[in-house]
Amino acid sequence: MPYCISIDKQAAERIIVELRRLGLIDDEHRVVRINNNVLVPLKIKEPVELELSVGRVSVVECNPPERKTTKTVKIPSLDVVGDVVIVRETVLKHMKAEDVISAIRYVYPRIRAIWIKEETVDSYRTPILKLLWGEDIREVIAKEYGVKLKVKLGEVYFNPRLSEEHHRLSQLVKDGEVIVDAFSGIGGFALHIASSRFCMVIANDINPVAYELLIENIELNKKRIRGSIMPLNLDARELPDVIRRKSADRLIADLPMWSLEFADVYEELIKPGGVLHLYKVSLINEEVLKSELLSVFKAWRIKECRLVMEYAPRVGIYRCDFIKL
Ligand SMILES: C[S@@+](CC[C@H](N)C(=O)[O-])C[C@H]1O[C@@H](n2cnc3c(N)ncnc32)[C@H](O)[C@@H]1O
Repeated sequence: MPYCISIDKQAAERIIVELRRLGLIDDEHRVVRINNNVLVPLKIKEPVELELSVGRVSVVECNPPERKTTKTVKIPSLDVVGDVVIVRETVLKHMKAEDVISAIRYVYPRIRAIWIKEETVDSYRTPILKLLWGEDIREVIAKEYGVKLKVKLGEVYFNPRLSEEHHRLSQLVKDGEVIVDAFSGIGGFALHIASSRFCMVIANDINPVAYELLIENIELNKKRIRGSIMPLNLDARELPDVIRRKSADRLIADLPMWSLEFADVYEELIKPGGVLHLYKVSLINEEVLKSELLSVFKAWRIKECRLVMEYAPRVGIYRCDFIKL
Protein backbone atom coordinates (compact mmCIF):
# COMPACT_ATOMS: atom_id res chain seq x y z
CA MET A 1 0.00 0.00 0.00
CA PRO A 2 1.44 3.48 -0.91
CA TYR A 3 1.89 6.25 1.67
CA CYS A 4 0.65 9.85 1.26
CA ILE A 5 0.36 13.14 3.05
CA SER A 6 -2.95 14.94 3.18
CA ILE A 7 -2.58 18.73 2.87
CA ASP A 8 -4.89 21.71 2.53
CA LYS A 9 -5.59 22.53 -1.14
CA GLN A 10 -4.49 26.16 -0.63
CA ALA A 11 -0.97 25.06 0.28
CA ALA A 12 -0.83 22.06 -2.06
CA GLU A 13 1.05 23.59 -4.97
CA ARG A 14 3.84 25.00 -2.77
CA ILE A 15 4.20 21.79 -0.78
CA ILE A 16 4.28 19.60 -3.87
CA VAL A 17 7.17 21.74 -5.18
CA GLU A 18 8.93 21.33 -1.81
CA LEU A 19 8.36 17.55 -1.78
CA ARG A 20 9.58 17.24 -5.37
CA ARG A 21 12.74 19.13 -4.48
CA LEU A 22 13.27 16.63 -1.65
CA GLY A 23 12.79 13.77 -4.16
CA LEU A 24 9.86 12.36 -2.15
CA ILE A 25 7.03 12.40 -4.74
CA ASP A 26 5.87 9.00 -6.00
CA ASP A 27 5.26 9.57 -9.74
CA GLU A 28 3.73 6.14 -10.24
CA HIS A 29 0.53 7.28 -8.50
CA ARG A 30 -1.70 10.26 -9.08
CA VAL A 31 -2.24 13.24 -6.76
CA VAL A 32 -5.93 13.24 -5.75
CA ARG A 33 -8.15 15.98 -4.42
CA ILE A 34 -10.68 15.04 -1.71
CA ASN A 35 -12.95 17.96 -0.74
CA ASN A 36 -10.62 20.70 0.59
CA ASN A 37 -7.60 18.44 0.88
CA VAL A 38 -5.07 17.05 -1.56
CA LEU A 39 -3.58 13.58 -1.15
CA VAL A 40 0.04 13.48 -2.35
CA PRO A 41 1.59 9.99 -2.88
CA LEU A 42 5.15 9.64 -1.60
CA LYS A 43 8.08 7.30 -2.09
CA ILE A 44 8.15 6.78 1.71
CA LYS A 45 7.27 3.24 2.77
CA GLU A 46 6.38 3.73 6.46
CA PRO A 47 4.13 5.95 8.58
CA VAL A 48 6.48 8.77 9.70
CA GLU A 49 6.19 12.49 10.35
CA LEU A 50 7.74 15.01 7.92
CA GLU A 51 9.09 18.41 8.95
CA LEU A 52 7.96 20.72 6.12
CA SER A 53 7.69 24.52 5.72
CA VAL A 54 4.05 24.29 6.87
CA GLY A 55 5.07 22.38 10.01
CA ARG A 56 4.92 18.69 10.97
CA VAL A 57 2.85 16.52 8.62
CA SER A 58 1.90 12.86 9.14
CA VAL A 59 2.49 10.27 6.44
CA VAL A 60 -0.42 7.83 6.25
CA GLU A 61 -1.43 4.78 4.23
CA CYS A 62 -3.49 5.66 1.16
CA ASN A 63 -4.89 4.19 -2.06
CA PRO A 64 -4.36 6.70 -4.89
CA PRO A 65 -4.95 5.61 -8.52
CA GLU A 66 -1.96 4.47 -10.55
CA ARG A 67 -0.66 6.83 -13.19
CA LYS A 68 -0.97 5.44 -16.73
CA THR A 69 2.56 5.12 -18.11
CA THR A 70 3.12 5.78 -21.78
CA LYS A 71 5.41 3.24 -23.35
CA THR A 72 7.36 4.26 -26.43
CA VAL A 73 7.38 1.47 -28.96
CA LYS A 74 9.34 1.54 -32.20
CA ILE A 75 7.07 0.08 -34.88
CA PRO A 76 8.54 -1.28 -38.08
CA SER A 77 6.91 -0.43 -41.40
CA LEU A 78 4.20 -3.05 -41.89
CA ASP A 79 1.00 -4.03 -43.65
CA VAL A 80 -2.06 -5.36 -41.84
CA VAL A 81 -4.07 -7.83 -43.93
CA GLY A 82 -7.14 -9.14 -42.11
CA ASP A 83 -5.79 -10.50 -38.83
CA VAL A 84 -2.18 -10.93 -39.90
CA VAL A 85 0.71 -8.50 -40.19
CA ILE A 86 3.32 -8.56 -42.96
CA VAL A 87 6.72 -6.90 -42.54
CA ARG A 88 9.53 -6.62 -45.01
CA GLU A 89 12.64 -8.72 -44.53
CA THR A 90 14.82 -5.57 -44.40
CA VAL A 91 13.20 -4.68 -41.05
CA LEU A 92 15.25 -7.49 -39.48
CA LYS A 93 18.44 -5.66 -40.47
CA HIS A 94 17.56 -2.85 -38.06
CA MET A 95 15.58 -4.63 -35.32
CA LYS A 96 15.88 -7.93 -33.46
CA ALA A 97 13.13 -10.45 -34.32
CA GLU A 98 11.86 -10.49 -30.70
CA ASP A 99 11.61 -6.68 -30.67
CA VAL A 100 9.69 -6.70 -33.96
CA ILE A 101 7.27 -9.30 -32.54
CA SER A 102 6.70 -7.55 -29.22
CA ALA A 103 6.30 -4.09 -30.81
CA ILE A 104 3.73 -5.37 -33.33
CA ARG A 105 1.82 -7.38 -30.73
CA TYR A 106 1.75 -4.38 -28.39
CA VAL A 107 0.08 -2.21 -31.05
CA TYR A 108 -2.05 -4.97 -32.65
CA PRO A 109 -2.89 -7.30 -29.73
CA ARG A 110 -5.52 -9.23 -31.75
CA ILE A 111 -3.36 -10.33 -34.68
CA ARG A 112 -2.83 -14.05 -35.16
CA ALA A 113 0.35 -14.13 -37.23
CA ILE A 114 3.34 -12.07 -38.31
CA TRP A 115 4.84 -12.90 -41.71
CA ILE A 116 8.16 -11.75 -43.12
CA LYS A 117 7.97 -10.85 -46.79
CA GLU A 118 11.17 -11.79 -48.55
CA GLU A 119 10.57 -10.51 -52.05
CA THR A 120 8.04 -10.34 -54.86
CA VAL A 121 8.88 -12.97 -57.43
CA ASP A 122 7.81 -14.14 -60.91
CA SER A 123 5.30 -12.67 -63.29
CA TYR A 124 2.41 -13.36 -60.87
CA ARG A 125 4.06 -10.81 -58.49
CA THR A 126 3.64 -13.19 -55.53
CA PRO A 127 5.74 -12.70 -52.39
CA ILE A 128 7.79 -15.38 -50.59
CA LEU A 129 6.63 -15.39 -46.96
CA LYS A 130 8.24 -16.78 -43.80
CA LEU A 131 6.28 -17.10 -40.57
CA LEU A 132 7.92 -15.01 -37.83
CA TRP A 133 5.31 -15.51 -35.10
CA GLY A 134 1.86 -17.04 -34.57
CA GLU A 135 -0.39 -19.39 -36.49
CA ASP A 136 0.30 -20.58 -40.02
CA ILE A 137 -2.63 -18.59 -41.45
CA ARG A 138 -2.51 -18.23 -45.22
CA GLU A 139 -6.11 -17.30 -46.00
CA VAL A 140 -7.33 -13.94 -44.80
CA ILE A 141 -10.15 -11.56 -45.59
CA ALA A 142 -9.07 -7.97 -46.07
CA LYS A 143 -11.62 -5.16 -46.02
CA GLU A 144 -11.41 -2.01 -48.15
CA TYR A 145 -14.22 0.55 -47.91
CA GLY A 146 -16.61 -2.30 -47.06
CA VAL A 147 -15.41 -4.47 -49.98
CA LYS A 148 -14.29 -7.92 -48.76
CA LEU A 149 -11.25 -9.43 -50.45
CA LYS A 150 -10.22 -13.00 -49.74
CA VAL A 151 -6.45 -13.36 -50.12
CA LYS A 152 -4.27 -16.48 -50.21
CA LEU A 153 -1.02 -15.14 -48.83
CA GLY A 154 2.02 -16.05 -50.90
CA GLU A 155 -0.07 -17.33 -53.83
CA VAL A 156 -1.38 -14.08 -55.26
CA TYR A 157 -0.39 -10.44 -55.45
CA PHE A 158 -2.09 -8.32 -52.81
CA ASN A 159 -1.11 -4.93 -51.44
CA PRO A 160 -3.35 -3.29 -48.81
CA ARG A 161 -1.73 0.06 -49.66
CA LEU A 162 -3.76 0.04 -52.89
CA SER A 163 -7.05 0.34 -51.01
CA GLU A 164 -7.22 4.13 -51.45
CA GLU A 165 -6.28 3.84 -55.11
CA HIS A 166 -8.99 1.20 -55.73
CA HIS A 167 -11.53 3.58 -54.26
CA ARG A 168 -10.19 6.69 -56.02
CA LEU A 169 -10.24 5.06 -59.43
CA SER A 170 -13.72 3.61 -58.92
CA GLN A 171 -15.02 7.15 -58.43
CA LEU A 172 -13.82 8.15 -61.94
CA VAL A 173 -16.06 5.55 -63.61
CA LYS A 174 -19.51 6.49 -64.91
CA ASP A 175 -22.61 4.30 -65.06
CA GLY A 176 -22.92 2.36 -68.30
CA GLU A 177 -19.19 2.06 -69.02
CA VAL A 178 -17.39 -1.08 -70.20
CA ILE A 179 -14.11 -1.42 -68.30
CA VAL A 180 -11.28 -3.87 -68.89
CA ASP A 181 -9.07 -4.59 -65.86
CA ALA A 182 -6.28 -6.38 -67.73
CA PHE A 183 -4.18 -7.40 -64.68
CA SER A 184 -6.87 -7.64 -62.03
CA GLY A 185 -5.24 -9.82 -59.37
CA ILE A 186 -7.96 -10.91 -56.94
CA GLY A 187 -10.26 -8.10 -58.08
CA GLY A 188 -9.55 -4.97 -56.03
CA PHE A 189 -10.38 -2.48 -58.80
CA ALA A 190 -13.19 -4.57 -60.32
CA LEU A 191 -15.00 -5.00 -56.99
CA HIS A 192 -14.69 -1.36 -55.96
CA ILE A 193 -15.97 -0.24 -59.37
CA ALA A 194 -18.85 -2.71 -59.64
CA SER A 195 -19.86 -1.88 -56.05
CA SER A 196 -20.35 1.78 -56.82
CA ARG A 197 -21.39 1.94 -60.51
CA PHE A 198 -23.87 0.20 -62.83
CA CYS A 199 -21.25 -0.89 -65.32
CA MET A 200 -19.56 -3.93 -66.82
CA VAL A 201 -16.03 -4.87 -65.70
CA ILE A 202 -14.05 -7.53 -67.55
CA ALA A 203 -11.45 -8.58 -64.96
CA ASN A 204 -8.54 -10.69 -66.15
CA ASP A 205 -5.50 -12.25 -64.52
CA ILE A 206 -3.05 -14.87 -65.74
CA ASN A 207 -2.61 -16.39 -62.25
CA PRO A 208 -5.20 -19.20 -61.82
CA VAL A 209 -5.28 -18.74 -58.03
CA ALA A 210 -6.03 -15.03 -58.44
CA TYR A 211 -8.79 -15.94 -60.92
CA GLU A 212 -10.37 -18.43 -58.44
CA LEU A 213 -10.21 -15.84 -55.66
CA LEU A 214 -11.76 -13.23 -57.93
CA ILE A 215 -14.73 -15.55 -58.44
CA GLU A 216 -14.96 -16.16 -54.66
CA ASN A 217 -14.69 -12.42 -54.03
CA ILE A 218 -17.56 -11.69 -56.42
CA GLU A 219 -19.65 -14.16 -54.40
CA LEU A 220 -18.47 -12.64 -51.08
CA ASN A 221 -19.59 -9.17 -52.20
CA LYS A 222 -22.69 -10.11 -54.17
CA LYS A 223 -24.99 -8.06 -51.94
CA ARG A 224 -23.17 -4.82 -52.67
CA ILE A 225 -22.31 -5.29 -56.35
CA ARG A 226 -24.46 -3.09 -58.63
CA GLY A 227 -22.70 -3.64 -61.96
CA SER A 228 -21.43 -6.92 -63.35
CA ILE A 229 -17.98 -8.52 -63.39
CA MET A 230 -16.82 -11.02 -65.98
CA PRO A 231 -13.76 -12.95 -64.71
CA LEU A 232 -11.12 -14.19 -67.19
CA ASN A 233 -7.97 -16.20 -66.71
CA LEU A 234 -5.88 -15.29 -69.74
CA ASP A 235 -2.57 -13.82 -70.72
CA ALA A 236 -3.54 -10.19 -71.38
CA ARG A 237 -2.07 -10.56 -74.87
CA GLU A 238 -5.02 -12.81 -75.71
CA LEU A 239 -7.69 -10.29 -74.66
CA PRO A 240 -8.22 -8.87 -78.18
CA ASP A 241 -9.20 -12.41 -79.23
CA VAL A 242 -12.12 -12.53 -76.80
CA ILE A 243 -13.19 -8.90 -76.35
CA ARG A 244 -14.68 -6.89 -79.19
CA ARG A 245 -12.11 -4.43 -80.55
CA LYS A 246 -12.47 -0.73 -79.68
CA SER A 247 -15.23 -1.55 -77.20
CA ALA A 248 -13.73 -0.48 -73.87
CA ASP A 249 -14.52 2.93 -72.40
CA ARG A 250 -11.69 2.42 -69.92
CA LEU A 251 -8.79 0.01 -69.41
CA ILE A 252 -6.80 -0.47 -66.21
CA ALA A 253 -3.22 -1.66 -66.74
CA ASP A 254 -1.85 -2.34 -63.25
CA LEU A 255 1.37 -4.19 -64.04
CA PRO A 256 3.82 -1.44 -63.13
CA MET A 257 7.02 -3.24 -64.19
CA TRP A 258 5.87 -4.33 -67.63
CA SER A 259 2.77 -2.29 -68.48
CA LEU A 260 4.39 -0.71 -71.58
CA GLU A 261 4.83 -4.13 -73.18
CA PHE A 262 1.08 -4.38 -73.76
CA ALA A 263 0.59 -1.04 -75.55
CA ASP A 264 -0.77 -2.77 -78.68
CA VAL A 265 -3.42 -4.56 -76.56
CA TYR A 266 -4.65 -1.26 -75.11
CA GLU A 267 -4.69 0.22 -78.60
CA GLU A 268 -6.84 -2.69 -79.85
CA LEU A 269 -9.37 -2.65 -77.02
CA ILE A 270 -10.00 1.00 -76.10
CA LYS A 271 -12.45 3.05 -78.16
CA PRO A 272 -11.52 6.54 -79.44
CA GLY A 273 -12.04 9.00 -76.58
CA GLY A 274 -11.66 6.13 -74.09
CA VAL A 275 -9.32 6.22 -71.08
CA LEU A 276 -6.23 4.18 -70.25
CA HIS A 277 -5.09 4.07 -66.60
CA LEU A 278 -1.51 2.93 -66.87
CA TYR A 279 0.54 2.05 -63.79
CA LYS A 280 4.27 2.40 -64.24
CA VAL A 281 7.39 2.16 -62.09
CA SER A 282 9.55 5.22 -62.63
CA LEU A 283 12.11 7.54 -61.09
CA ILE A 284 10.21 10.13 -59.09
CA ASN A 285 10.44 12.72 -61.84
CA GLU A 286 7.33 13.41 -63.91
CA GLU A 287 9.18 14.95 -66.84
CA VAL A 288 11.35 11.84 -67.31
CA LEU A 289 8.27 9.62 -66.98
CA LYS A 290 6.12 11.59 -69.42
CA SER A 291 8.78 11.72 -72.13
CA GLU A 292 9.26 7.94 -71.85
CA LEU A 293 5.51 7.38 -72.13
CA LEU A 294 4.96 9.75 -75.05
CA SER A 295 7.60 7.89 -77.06
CA VAL A 296 5.39 4.78 -76.80
CA PHE A 297 1.86 6.28 -76.78
CA LYS A 298 1.99 8.56 -79.80
CA ALA A 299 -1.74 8.53 -80.59
CA TRP A 300 -2.74 9.36 -77.02
CA ARG A 301 -2.96 12.47 -74.86
CA ILE A 302 -1.70 12.31 -71.27
CA LYS A 303 -4.31 13.80 -68.97
CA GLU A 304 -2.34 13.51 -65.74
CA CYS A 305 0.23 11.42 -63.91
CA ARG A 306 0.08 11.00 -60.17
CA LEU A 307 2.38 9.23 -57.75
CA VAL A 308 0.44 6.35 -56.18
CA MET A 309 3.11 5.01 -53.84
CA GLU A 310 6.83 4.97 -53.24
CA TYR A 311 8.49 1.78 -54.37
CA ALA A 312 12.16 2.26 -53.45
CA PRO A 313 14.31 5.30 -52.65
CA ARG A 314 13.58 7.91 -55.41
CA VAL A 315 11.49 5.35 -57.34
CA GLY A 316 7.70 5.36 -57.35
CA ILE A 317 4.65 3.75 -58.90
CA TYR A 318 2.71 6.28 -60.97
CA ARG A 319 -0.72 6.14 -62.49
CA CYS A 320 -0.89 8.00 -65.78
CA ASP A 321 -4.29 8.62 -67.35
CA PHE A 322 -4.35 8.79 -71.16
CA ILE A 323 -7.16 9.71 -73.53
CA LYS A 324 -7.18 7.89 -76.85
CA LEU A 325 -7.26 10.36 -79.74
C1 LIG B 1 0.37 -5.55 -59.63
S1 LIG B 1 -0.60 -7.00 -59.75
C2 LIG B 1 -2.22 -6.39 -59.94
C3 LIG B 1 -2.85 -5.99 -58.68
C4 LIG B 1 -4.32 -5.71 -58.76
N1 LIG B 1 -4.63 -4.74 -59.77
C5 LIG B 1 -4.79 -5.20 -57.40
O1 LIG B 1 -5.28 -4.08 -57.35
O2 LIG B 1 -4.65 -5.94 -56.41
C6 LIG B 1 -0.26 -7.58 -61.35
C7 LIG B 1 -1.07 -8.80 -61.72
O3 LIG B 1 -0.83 -9.06 -63.10
C8 LIG B 1 -0.88 -10.45 -63.31
N2 LIG B 1 -0.17 -10.70 -64.58
C9 LIG B 1 1.14 -10.72 -64.83
N3 LIG B 1 1.38 -10.93 -66.14
C10 LIG B 1 0.17 -11.03 -66.74
C11 LIG B 1 -0.24 -11.23 -68.10
N4 LIG B 1 0.63 -11.37 -69.09
N5 LIG B 1 -1.56 -11.28 -68.34
C12 LIG B 1 -2.48 -11.14 -67.36
N6 LIG B 1 -2.14 -10.95 -66.05
C13 LIG B 1 -0.82 -10.89 -65.76
C14 LIG B 1 -0.23 -11.03 -62.07
O4 LIG B 1 -0.65 -12.35 -61.85
C15 LIG B 1 -0.70 -10.07 -60.99
O5 LIG B 1 -1.85 -10.55 -60.33
